[in-house]
Amino acid sequence: MQAYDITHLQTELANKNPRIILKNALELYNNIAISFSGSEDVILIDMAIKIRKDIRVFSLDTGRLHPETYRFIEKVRKHYKIDIELLTPDRDSLDEFVKNKGLFSFYEDGHQECCSIRKVEPLKRKLATLDAWITGQRKDQSLDTRQDIPEVQLDIGFSNEQHRLLKFNPLINWTSSQVWDYIEAHQVPYNQLHGKGFISIGCEPCTRAVLPNQHERAGRWWWESGNKKECGLHIGNIK
Ligand code: ADX
Ligand code: SF4
Repeated sequence: MQAYDITHLQTELANKNPRIILKNALELYNNIAISFSGSEDVILIDMAIKIRKDIRVFSLDTGRLHPETYRFIEKVRKHYKIDIELLTPDRDSLDEFVKNKGLFSFYEDGHQECCSIRKVEPLKRKLATLDAWITGQRKDQSLDTRQDIPEVQLDIGFSNEQHRLLKFNPLINWTSSQVWDYIEAHQVPYNQLHGKGFISIGCEPCTRAVLPNQHERAGRWWWESGNKKECGLHIGNIK
């Protein structure tokens, strides 16, 4: 798809509801997959499967997810009778990293290196095989980094001259409460961590429950400042 067509598509999809955005994505692209984090982005799967039975879903298994998240991924797999491809980090890079820096270096020198090995590199490998991907990003997840994200965009982080990759963000304009209304109305299964004070869910050592009235992003990489709270999956969000 040319730059002009992406702009045109974005204009068409602007402010549309998540289902319409998903429907367009799934009709336009065959070689497309949903990136599922094991949290409330499960609603993308619930919506997508009603549009197309043969949806493809992958999760980045960093090796550091909460036990509840692993159980939830399994529950979703069975509930929707779908495959969820689990992407694991490159063994040599991970061995080397852990040997040199141990298991918790991110508390001392930031999360970028660990995220790059455990999340970004496996994602990059996967995205190289796709024409488009679908994420559960929302504006209300981050006042610092997610305010300017469109419904569809050229993924500047993972495209190159030979391979143009599109990124769809169907939930971008929905708020957390709209997502939870959907979960309730459609009886969608959810991660048990949400019942334990967790809003945003990432890896276990880098995610914590938040207090009432705290922003959800406060529970992610809490020792770092707001504009650094992107792990590289959505590199285009960092200005
Ligand atoms: S993150 O970049 O800070 O970790 P966040 O947790 O807000 O991302 O999730 C936003 C979207 O990124 C998710 O809805 C999902 O599409 C994608 N994502 C995040 N973590 C993962 C993961 N472990 N596996 C697959 N997709 C993920
Ligand atoms: Fe590593 Fe934490 Fe990033 Fe997970 S979120 S990959 S544990 S730094």
